[in-house]
Amino acid sequence: MDSKADVGDVAGQSFGQAIGSAIAPDENVRIFDTTLRDGEQSPGISLNLKEKVEIAEQLARLGVDIIEAGFPIASAGETEAVQAIARTVRGPVIAGLARVEPGDIDRAAEAVGSAERARIHTFIATSEVHMRAKLRMTPDEVLQASRAGVERARGHVADVEFSCEDATRSDPEFVAQVFRAAVEAGATTLNVPDTVGYCMPQEYANLLTFLIREVDADVVWSVHTHDDLGLAVANALAGVEAGARQIEVAVNGIGERAGNCSLEEVVMAIRTREVGSRQAVATGVNTTEIARTSRLVSMLTGYAVPPNKAIVGANAFAHEAGIHQHGVMAERTTYEIMDPVDVGLDGSRIVLGKHSGRHAFANALVELGFTLSPGDIQKAFDRFKELADRKIRITDVDLEAIVVEEIGSEADQYELVSIQVAGGTHLSPTATVRLRRDGEVIDESAIGDGMIDAACGAVQRATGIEARLESFNVSSVTGGIDALGDVTIVLAVGDGSPESPVRRATGRGVSTDVVEASARAYLSAVNRLFSLAARGGLGWTAEQETNGQRSETVVEAAG
Ligand code: KIV
Ligand code: ZN
Repeated sequence: MDSKADVGDVAGQSFGQAIGSAIAPDENVRIFDTTLRDGEQSPGISLNLKEKVEIAEQLARLGVDIIEAGFPIASAGETEAVQAIARTVRGPVIAGLARVEPGDIDRAAEAVGSAERARIHTFIATSEVHMRAKLRMTPDEVLQASRAGVERARGHVADVEFSCEDATRSDPEFVAQVFRAAVEAGATTLNVPDTVGYCMPQEYANLLTFLIREVDADVVWSVHTHDDLGLAVANALAGVEAGARQIEVAVNGIGERAGNCSLEEVVMAIRTREVGSRQAVATGVNTTEIARTSRLVSMLTGYAVPPNKAIVGANAFAHEAGIHQHGVMAERTTYEIMDPVDVGLDGSRIVLGKHSGRHAFANALVELGFTLSPGDIQKAFDRFKELADRKIRITDVDLEAIVVEEIGSEADQYELVSIQVAGGTHLSPTATVRLRRDGEVIDESAIGDGMIDAACGAVQRATGIEARLESFNVSSVTGGIDALGDVTIVLAVGDGSPESPVRRATGRGVSTDVVEASARAYLSAVNRLFSLAARGGLGWTAEQETNGQRSETVVEAAG
């Protein structure tokens, strides 16, 4: 494939003109990762503090420039998570999101305060529908609030990003006016969100071109695109062609509704096609960490990556048709425009076996980049030993799955002690589970349509939760007959009324046995529902029955 070909015109400028030219430092595109903020706003994702720190550490290894660690005003738990990331993660700038309100901005400042380099990202909506129906503010009030918000943020930090929410459905003249006020107040990055994924690439490029010309300021222009029409990556690239030098992305493209611009897609598009109208641009991402980052985010969020997903899908580099296989064997570039090695897909390595000791296990974790406490290493090692008895060779990818399951279990109320199942052609499928909660043992049994149904039913009875099963997904961690089964379950509570909003939690379990993996995934989702309730804001009442004793966790809806 000729990567030097012109592929189209955007805002009067064509892609690929400057291929081969050296990349000047000012042509670097900053990668602003919002997996932990916009990405975490996906239904059913609720990462705990430890999981967020683990993802942030991996984003730093990946080489992103800015990590948007969260929206601190959203809850005390969110503030703590942003604080923990600011304290521990080194390398990238750590940003906290805030509306232009004083309370939001002060909370964001408090949360990112101990970062090596801190940023406050503040925003307000500028479209007619948002100002009228959501904010109930006049354009003039929005203008004044923007100025005041940025000034307040600058009182805390030198690095302030300002966004006009729903910019692409706003009056461009008004957006330019608001941006000018933000620059006067001290904003250093201006972000142009296509909040509802409505824009076409040409329109988005034209909007950026117009704003850059009209605002005429020494700032970094940023693109933030959503994927409602499947155009998030195309729009982000069009924005870069028009002069933007920051792209806001999420790993695996997760995020509100159809998601955000996918990190791996936009980074590999820039690398493969050397995007840039005047000069080729580049990112500072270490692309060989992409596959691992994608797996980590998928495992911790419970959001499976579709097999045909660009760059990180299981089939992204698979060749099915004989003619393709033949071509690739003769010369890889016949059907591959990227080298799988460049995105970190060089096959899983066998790292451990059942005779491996604690020392070898701990070393393998360090090599994989995990930094666990001695207690967590012990827990993960116990789980590894259990699995190694049943699976002869444990690969690096298996190990990741085991460790990630342990990291996710930090705040668990219930622990699975054992599971027994019976079934067959003439027996009703039956499962018995033993759980532990605060040292107390709970035994329950259930009959189901199949073994998995029975196992999940037994967990439901033991925990006493009334939740609906919304989705069930099973895949294997690696290939082969002895692969670990990887089950993801989404549970929901609430009837959708104002008193009882629908809340979802995703759980994940891995085991050599898919019935056990399913019970683990179901229990993990239940634990997350209880931990959401404990953190507040759910507005539902969780009733639990433990060996006949009913207890109630009543949680008020967040204000
Ligand atoms: O989509 C959006 O508008 C946002 C802003 C908060 C930047 O996420
Ligand atoms: Zn967004």
